[in-house]
Amino acid sequence: MTRILVTLPIPEPGMEILRRAADVDVIALDHVALAQRCASGDYDVVVAQLRDRFDSASLASARLRGISNYAVGVDNIDVGAATARGIVVGNTPGVLTDSTADIALLLMLATARRAVEADRMVRAGEFTGWAPELMLGTDVSGRVLGLAGFGRIARATARRALGFGMTVRFCPRPPSDRPVDDEELGEFGGRVEHVSWDELVATSDFLSLHVPLTESTHHLVDARVLGAMKTSAILVNTARGPVVDESALVEALRGGVIAGAGLDVYEDEPATAPGLSELANTVLLPHVGSATVSVRSEMARLCAENAVAMAAGTLPRHAVNP
Ligand code: DGY
Repeated sequence: MTRILVTLPIPEPGMEILRRAADVDVIALDHVALAQRCASGDYDVVVAQLRDRFDSASLASARLRGISNYAVGVDNIDVGAATARGIVVGNTPGVLTDSTADIALLLMLATARRAVEADRMVRAGEFTGWAPELMLGTDVSGRVLGLAGFGRIARATARRALGFGMTVRFCPRPPSDRPVDDEELGEFGGRVEHVSWDELVATSDFLSLHVPLTESTHHLVDARVLGAMKTSAILVNTARGPVVDESALVEALRGGVIAGAGLDVYEDEPATAPGLSELANTVLLPHVGSATVSVRSEMARLCAENAVAMAAGTLPRHAVNP
């Protein structure tokens, strides 16, 4: 029987698929211990979490058929190094598109309408009655949403934002650009506008990030970009923390360079940059873009099916390095 190492149990539908097909060990391991297990030759496949780091050094001695990531993002894995070792890397695309777009909208609305501040006020017993100037926020309808990226999650966010009466602009591969094809634009039929990164930054009331973490998107939003945004703008990040220079963001929020930020991801998770959590103009979530019962179950199924296929030496349904 093939052997699969699971570093953190995934929801039961996935565990069941794994147990039916393989000998499964569930063991929480730090970086060094994980690298040792991967090099031991004891396992065919690792079912990995975003917190498990597979860098070129640890992959250099890995003896595995595959790594099945319980996520759509694979920035915790040096995919080039895995490919060089003949290790297939699997992920879980598609199933978390809508839930993540929901969280982008939730963060936009919650930040613009000061939902968390308002909730705290009521709980603290400080709500003394309706008042004309109580907790005034920013409108969403009629405002410009700028999407950095135009993949599945960005397009699902666009769909929702159009429903809220927003104007939607996008830059498909910031900081540079790429053409978009008719298939991507199809359903939007001229209702969204393709602009340059600089224009997106300068004209958005809400700037929402939907790019993978790569060398070119690391600190895509830095002090310069924050300085080029409207002072009334709100930044939303449901992508990856290191896409934003978080210390520069804290400074920008403190100094009124931008108006607010809604974040689901952080540069050095689970830590947040000093000062961030003290700022009232932020809404901070603990990386829950895909956190619904049904989405996590679907991710578990996909991840387990990928792992079982890899262990059998066949190509999984979703591989990023076929
Ligand atoms: C992913 O899948 O990449 C999310 O960040 C976690 O679900």
